Amino acid sequence: MASKLLNIALAVFAIVLPAVAMATEFTVGDDQGWTINFDYEAWAKDKVFRVGDELVFKYTAGRHNVFKVNGTVFTNCTIPPPNEALTTGNDVITLATPGRKWYICGVNDHCANYGQKLAITVLEEWASPAPAPSPSTTTAPAPSSAYGISVSGH
Ligand SMILES: *[C@@H]1O[C@H](CO)[C@@H](O)[C@H](O)[C@H]1NC(C)=O
Ligand SMILES: *[C@@H]1O[C@H](CO)[C@@H](O)[C@H](O)[C@H]1NC(C)=O
Repeated sequence: MASKLLNIALAVFAIVLPAVAMATEFTVGDDQGWTINFDYEAWAKDKVFRVGDELVFKYTAGRHNVFKVNGTVFTNCTIPPPNEALTTGNDVITLATPGRKWYICGVNDHCANYGQKLAITVLEEWASPAPAPSPSTTTAPAPSSAYGISVSGH
């Protein structure tokens, strides 16, 4: 009996552990990269971002840039000082904390008029999942013993 439970526990770990070690790298905009007239809201919608994952902004250096901003600036497209920009054309941002994150292009009016802005929600990393019911609760005692408990409690 105990060894059977142990086997189940090991099987669960075997499934979960590879996911813990794996961080995902997202190329923003996929093949299109970081550019104007792309629907980044739609791009981000079906993706799950977690702490430890990476965003890669790919573009021709000089044409665009990347600013990490807050929600107000994102909505307003207020361009921050140039020295805060990422400008390499292959900018990698590691998602370090959970929560809402915003990125805009600061070149010309790409943010305000061409939709070059990305908002995502970053979840906790795999290693610290939300509390879930432990597997042992699903292997509850058989109905006969539950009946026995209710009788003894009477
Ligand atoms: C957002 O960033 C701007 C520019 O850095 C700053 O002035 C503003 O106070 C920030 N807003 C919030 C809600 O943090
Ligand atoms: C956002 O835009 C509004 C209206 O244009 C302005 O009043 C406000 O100061 C702007 N906020 C920031 C953070 O730039």
